[in-house]
Amino acid sequence: MPESIFTVMDRAKSAARSNGLDVIDLSIGSSDLAPPIAVLDALREATRDPSTYRYPLHSDTADLRSAAALYMRRRFDVTLDAERYVLPLIGAQEGLAHLLLAVTDPGDTILLPDPAYPPYLGAATLAGLHVHRLPLTAENAFLPRLDVIREDALRRAKVLLLNYPNNPTSATATVTFFEEAVRFCRAHDLLLVHDHPYAETTFGDYRAPSALEVDRDALTTVELHSLSKSFSMGGFRVGFAVGHPDVLAALARVKGAVDFHQYLGIQRAAAVALNLPESFARETADVFEARRDALLPEVRRLGWTADIPRAGMYVWAKLPPNLPNSLDFASRLARETGVALAPGVAFGPSGEGYVRFALVRAPNDLLEAVRRIEAYCATPT
Ligand SMILES: Cc1ncc(COP(=O)(O)O)c(C=O)c1O
Repeated sequence: MPESIFTVMDRAKSAARSNGLDVIDLSIGSSDLAPPIAVLDALREATRDPSTYRYPLHSDTADLRSAAALYMRRRFDVTLDAERYVLPLIGAQEGLAHLLLAVTDPGDTILLPDPAYPPYLGAATLAGLHVHRLPLTAENAFLPRLDVIREDALRRAKVLLLNYPNNPTSATATVTFFEEAVRFCRAHDLLLVHDHPYAETTFGDYRAPSALEVDRDALTTVELHSLSKSFSMGGFRVGFAVGHPDVLAALARVKGAVDFHQYLGIQRAAAVALNLPESFARETADVFEARRDALLPEVRRLGWTADIPRAGMYVWAKLPPNLPNSLDFASRLARETGVALAPGVAFGPSGEGYVRFALVRAPNDLLEAVRRIEAYCATPT
């Protein structure tokens, strides 16, 4: 397993703290917001109910499965049988790692975006997969070019993994792109895995589509949903998979060897969250939108290039060519100013030359971060 670049960044943050700097940590996409009160109340009540203390079996997940199916219908107009087409997860990250173990053999190939959320590579490594990287470039709006994937990689490939709204680039994908992806996966006998934790973190009138909108019978697709971002429940570790029933059955078998599902009280809290009116998720998204609006003009004022995200929790900024590589820049910046950004290379080789700001602090802190960056860049080295 590769050492995470976030470990290097962690050392830089510790060094800043020992130098007495207060750290503004924008390097990790861990939300600083609180879950809705109704969710916390449901969890509190559940902890007093002794029937929640046992190992939860599949039948105990029925309420969360129903809430997830209802959410999919309300939000994406996708109708799913909650028994076979929905499976609760201990977060999308857990779901993906076990999904790859369930549907691939060691030596198979996975088509992975580059840059991408770093645990994708870890999950592929655990499953013994060859990784064929699909570069996401600004020229192609950070969407992969499916038409240029090499024939030999395609022959060995079992899975195409996509993630829109995207981490780290915050790019979004249209329904037309998902149609192309589903057609492509059918033509090449691939499973489409769509990782969708930012489904609700969308701005203005933009609403992120589900890949299942173009694969309503879930013949080709599994989509991973998370409550971490939409309902600020990252630490609760809860999400769900929807899609191909045979794939979900295989995933359930792998999970059966390693876990007993999430604690029932957290499942109940998650079901409450999914049943909340859409305005709750909108309020959370509005917070990130206001932060985007505070940060983006300031980043551009530095002379760094960044698109306006329509969704997600990040600003993906291209560094000017006079700065060193992204890891050197980000680790020195963290050590000397206390501002921690994620170096683009942490997400894959195509991320080099970029840094990622996570919108996980209030606007004033974001502005203070840019002030420190500006002063740091103005200081001759
Ligand atoms: C693309 C992506 N997938 C999955 C996750 C993790 O989701 P969960 O907390 O549900 O495991 C994250 C968290 O940052 C993410 O950015």
